[in-house]
Amino acid sequence: MQIYTTTSAKKAPFDLIILPLFLGQDPNEIFKKHFGESLNADVVTKDFKNKTGSTQLVYGMPDFKKRILLLGLGESKKFNFEIWRQAIQSAINTILNIPIENVILIIPIFKALDINKYLELTAFSLVFSAYRFNEYKHPEPEEVTTKIKAVYLLTKASGSRAKKAVVQGVMIGTAVNSARDLSNHPANIATPSHLAKHAYGLAKLNKFSCKILDANQIKQEGMGLITGVGQGSAEPAKFIILEYGNKKQPPIVLVGKGLTFDSGGVSIKPSEKMEEMKYDMAGGADVIAIFEAASRLKLSLHLVGIVPAVENLPSGTATRPGDVLTAHNGKTVEVINTDAEGRMVLADTISYAKKYYNPKLILEYSTLTGAIVAALGDQLTGYFSNTENLKKSFILASKFTGENFWPMPLEEKYNEQLKSQIADFKNVGEKGAGGAITAALFLQNFVGKTPWVHFDIAGTAWTTQSKPHLVAGATGWGVYLTIEFLRNL
Ligand code: BES
Ligand code: MN
Ligand code: ZN
Repeated sequence: MQIYTTTSAKKAPFDLIILPLFLGQDPNEIFKKHFGESLNADVVTKDFKNKTGSTQLVYGMPDFKKRILLLGLGESKKFNFEIWRQAIQSAINTILNIPIENVILIIPIFKALDINKYLELTAFSLVFSAYRFNEYKHPEPEEVTTKIKAVYLLTKASGSRAKKAVVQGVMIGTAVNSARDLSNHPANIATPSHLAKHAYGLAKLNKFSCKILDANQIKQEGMGLITGVGQGSAEPAKFIILEYGNKKQPPIVLVGKGLTFDSGGVSIKPSEKMEEMKYDMAGGADVIAIFEAASRLKLSLHLVGIVPAVENLPSGTATRPGDVLTAHNGKTVEVINTDAEGRMVLADTISYAKKYYNPKLILEYSTLTGAIVAALGDQLTGYFSNTENLKKSFILASKFTGENFWPMPLEEKYNEQLKSQIADFKNVGEKGAGGAITAALFLQNFVGKTPWVHFDIAGTAWTTQSKPHLVAGATGWGVYLTIEFLRNL
């Protein structure tokens, strides 16, 4: 799908017009302005109920053979980015089922923000909304066999900034969709080696560096927690290190949990929904996708990305509950529950990042706890940080990108729960008592004073059912948010 801006409908070939309408708005007025023809408004809107994302396909305009898709936006006073994203998803869902190739999307007036940002978000949303994961389906479903070739955004903004904004929106949308692909692939395909190959390919293509440590090197490096988590699986662990930009300044280090499958290990999970644990690498996919976007956008920053890619399975070689493992920083961990594996691989990764990269900031993304899902559901990520001053910027970015989060406390008193009889730490706190917090505290013990934000995306990285702005499956939560945050630095 190509996306262009156009100031005049006459300049664009099209077989369908998307006509967004606010409640009570006269379609004729907009139509006449752009197309110089009148609509029989009474007939056109006869069956149309204007709600956010409601659609109605209409034909047979006077002297006008093309299709029009009426798209509801609801009350103009309430219009915002979230509504716009929902409306776009809904329009795309409708038109993917009809045989059309070229589309004009009339950009509704929205004065709350800079037109270029608005165009970027529109382009992003089109790419994001047209995402489907059908790689394993035969024959290819109808929805994708009729591919949209081009969407023309009909807007007054025509300068090079508007064009650039659209290109950037497409780049970011494409990167988010690659993150979704990685998570949607099953764990027999998206293995640690597959993640490493994917990252390496992107690095070559977009000219950033990529180094992969294999299982042996991970062990040699002293990352005993990653080794311990991975040793039950026949798939060898990979430690993926990406680096981009000016190496003279201390980097921002992005860390992403890369559990390609989390069965729980010997502390095995119940079988219900276990299949969804293929997305336990969504944080790692985020980091790789952030590199894809950042390098294509040519952000002038020094970034390091690290993804410990591992599979957590039970077997004769797996770590047992009660085993004591030694972390990269020399601390020992008593493994009470082998299902609390995410914090262990992250702890080694954070220690490695601190040793080799002197990060000025660590941003870390992980599907870390079921407890955060219980606390915040699937629409809010848990936000934990040892520094107050970044939250404002993240809130600002999230208002724009629609990736919402809620601040969570790092209550130090709960560190009590992580004390072990025989080692420096236990890997779990008390059952059912602030599990998202104790997991974050465990990490904080390895982070120390380095500024750090931990996003617990266990609830938001995946949606079992489609939502108004989102098809079912992986969401890519955090990629756009982070890009927006980094650009605003
Ligand atoms: N990957 C899971 C967390 C998770 C749960 C992600 C649901 C997505 C949806 C994590 O490794 C895990 O198993 N956490 C345990 C920790 C417990 C054993 C202390 C949990 O949350 O149950
Ligand atoms: Mn687990
Ligand atoms: Zn996990």
